[in-house]
Amino acid sequence: MDDGPPGLTVVHGASELVVGPDGGVGVETIPDGAFAAEEGRVVTVGAADEVLREYPAENADVAVDADGRLVAPGFVDPHTHAVFAGDRTDEFAAKLRGKSYEDILAEGGGILRTVRAVREADEATLTANLLDHLDVMLAHGTTTVEVKSGYGLSTESELKLLGAVDAADERHPVSVVPTFMGAHAVPEDDDAEEYVREVVDEQLPAVADQGIAEFCDVFCERGVFSADQSRRILRAGAEAGLTPKIHADEFADVGATGVAADVGAASADHLLRTDDEGADRLVDAGVTPVLLPGTAFALGEAYADARRFLDAGTPVAVATDFNPNCFARSMGFVATLACVGMRATPGEVLRGATHAAAAALDRTDGTGTLRSGAPADAVVHDVREHVEVPYTLDVNTADVVLAGGNPVVG
Ligand code: NIG
Ligand code: FE
Repeated sequence: MDDGPPGLTVVHGASELVVGPDGGVGVETIPDGAFAAEEGRVVTVGAADEVLREYPAENADVAVDADGRLVAPGFVDPHTHAVFAGDRTDEFAAKLRGKSYEDILAEGGGILRTVRAVREADEATLTANLLDHLDVMLAHGTTTVEVKSGYGLSTESELKLLGAVDAADERHPVSVVPTFMGAHAVPEDDDAEEYVREVVDEQLPAVADQGIAEFCDVFCERGVFSADQSRRILRAGAEAGLTPKIHADEFADVGATGVAADVGAASADHLLRTDDEGADRLVDAGVTPVLLPGTAFALGEAYADARRFLDAGTPVAVATDFNPNCFARSMGFVATLACVGMRATPGEVLRGATHAAAAALDRTDGTGTLRSGAPADAVVHDVREHVEVPYTLDVNTADVVLAGGNPVVG
């Protein structure tokens, strides 16, 4: 959505201001910070007295006094399946009784159940559902979110999902990045090879023709799409102008990190079963690792090895993976899980939830930072220090949210 940015935005009074990446894998912060933005883009950031000397708050169209609280870039959530219909709450109970995610999918539940609900839903319903989820995300401080299709599994219904994503983006302050994921599962009563041909020959050209997706993703997984099939789909996607992404090593290592490196994927996501060679392949090829601790938490699986990357100097991105199997829309919750479950520091996690997440979405305009030139997407958190964002277990710390210099929450 674009209501037009305000002329001058000034945010001041921060106890601590998270500016952007530091020289390592964490974030740079400044005490008693402020920033100013013109036409929705940051023009200066630094010590409050210096910023306010040049841009007095009383001259601003929008002035926000953080009143001694933390100011940070808006969260960037680089992996969600947020556009869907239907209900799978009963699968939560089934999983608690010991049924596995893969068993549920093999029986026609899981993704395939959501597919049936999506095929019956109209685009307006899907748009309304997504808008509701975007409201929750924004209230929790997310200002950019990637949303994948993949619950349609036919040309018509995949286009319907991407149409809903486009419509929601138009109407909502959160900036939405669309990903085509026709290869999210093999449809019931279909053959994997036949379906791969349909994705490549029919779905991809139709999506590219409408220009409504930026990335192409594949669920490269045991029992879903093989490494060879994933490579073919992602190469065809790249030829059609869609940047590759891949679901890699969630339940089994079937060679997805090799595919990611071969096709030059922007990111490889999940990485619960990635070995040292796989991790090295991603780092050497410049593929951003995207870790989804909410999914491991919801499935009761071991977390991804974040330290394997961080200790080698590679920032990791974190995301909610919001979907009916992982009903998490809060990046603050994910930040907590990333610290406690993956032993990442609060600074490493905030980097992962902002700048590294933007890298997973190929955003090079400063998104995920408050440096000069970046979109003025910022959050005043109701805490004093960035450590308290993941430290807070029970409530949403986001209080005021700005998107493009406009206050949209608080
Ligand atoms: O990333 N693993 C594949 N896709 C999603 C789950 C989607 C679903 O269960 O509906 C994920 O976890
Ligand atoms: Fe996913």
